[in-house]
Amino acid sequence: MERLQKVIAQAGFASRRKAEQLIIEGKVTVNGKKVTELGTKVSGSDKVEVGGIPVERENKVYYLFYKPRGVISAVSDDKNRKVVTDYFQFVEQRIFPVGRLDYDTSGLLIMTNDGEFSNLLTHPRYGVEKTYLARINGIPDRQILKKLATGVKLEDGMTAPARVKEISADKKKQRALIEITIHEGRNRQVRRMFEAFGFQVQKLRRERYGFLNLNGMNAGDIRELSAHEVKQLRTLAETGSLR
Ligand code: URA
Repeated sequence: MERLQKVIAQAGFASRRKAEQLIIEGKVTVNGKKVTELGTKVSGSDKVEVGGIPVERENKVYYLFYKPRGVISAVSDDKNRKVVTDYFQFVEQRIFPVGRLDYDTSGLLIMTNDGEFSNLLTHPRYGVEKTYLARINGIPDRQILKKLATGVKLEDGMTAPARVKEISADKKKQRALIEITIHEGRNRQVRRMFEAFGFQVQKLRRERYGFLNLNGMNAGDIRELSAHEVKQLRTLAETGSLR
């Protein structure tokens, strides 16, 4: 169920505020009946009309995108840099990324036009697990790996428990590959966690998001999520498990 003004705004009829005005002015009908109450909620099957013109409800779409490095997780950029939606010009719906990956981070990003779904997945209360592979300039010792896992004091507070695993360490080149799984989604979190111990993340890739992974995909690839996967993601976000 969604608020009437949101449905009207999402259909591109008017801004949210203008939509509210249209409702108050009695220009909106739901299933043929005039509605002037702003709090009214409608479902996908309700027929909404503005001034007698049916409001087209966009089909919800869900994609898994392997975001390359050097692309902004946004729908537009004032500096004209490449944005994730540049890869989705074949999609007529107005889609956006669920959460974000840094410009220099590659990896798994969900794209959708379903705002409710996006809120569910990005709300800190739910916290779907996200696994990153980080190339670090240096080799963190076991104590540091343990601290990364138990909690790191950042300027916006302690990090929640994480899973951390050294994948490889190159003593000659003094660099390491670390896998880290977090369920928070703070800004530049993984980079800041390593920076807290004096390490720079040279490369960062999101490998997994809940049960989704990038198997068989290359940077820039897109695949549609199945209805089952979307349902499972909802369950995961709502309950923390797949039951
Ligand atoms: N953590 C980061 O530091 N960057 C990302 O893009 C994602 C998680």
